[in-house]
Amino acid sequence: MKEKIETLISNTAIQKRISEIAEDISADYAGESLELICILKGGVVFMVDLAKHIKVPVTMNFMDVSSYGNGTQSSGEIKILMDLDAPIEGKNVLLVEDIIDSGRTLSKLVEHLSNRKPKSLKICTLLDKPERRVSHVDVQYTGFTIPDAFVVGYGLDYAQRYRNLDYIGVISFEEE
Ligand code: IMP
Ligand code: MG
Repeated sequence: MKEKIETLISNTAIQKRISEIAEDISADYAGESLELICILKGGVVFMVDLAKHIKVPVTMNFMDVSSYGNGTQSSGEIKILMDLDAPIEGKNVLLVEDIIDSGRTLSKLVEHLSNRKPKSLKICTLLDKPERRVSHVDVQYTGFTIPDAFVVGYGLDYAQRYRNLDYIGVISFEEE
């Protein structure tokens, strides 16, 4: 199978949107500090760029949650592969995710992290595919709402590849 990637969102558009989101976040958390929690691995490119534009004091942490195998179908199973290395009690937590698809990953994660008594717990996602939602999630910051297609780049992978693309593209597969 030959893989073809067509640009959906350019790097210029991504950067512009990230600075707008960071402005909203900076205003909403004015006078407070913020713990960004990156959902590995997809959220890492987005979080790094986002953090650079946020004007309030920021700390960063990382968590790895599995939801997908090597295909393009959600397994419906969520497992915490790597947990936070510090408590979040009393902190303003912002989960930074690459994409919300079925919503299963984040709805489970929010449920789990709420038990640790953060001061606040919000979600920031670069991409949202609302057509595919199965579990409800409240999302406070969204970069782009996209149609139901499998996308790669800017942190997002297909079988662990393409995370390093500086744009977001739709991947398709052709017979050779
Ligand atoms: P959900 O639990 O179905 O919302 O799955 C969310 C996770 O699935 C994301 O964090 C991604 O890792 C992965 N995912 C969903 N859609 C895509 C896609 O189009 N490209 C790459 N990864 C995706
Ligand atoms: Mg992910």
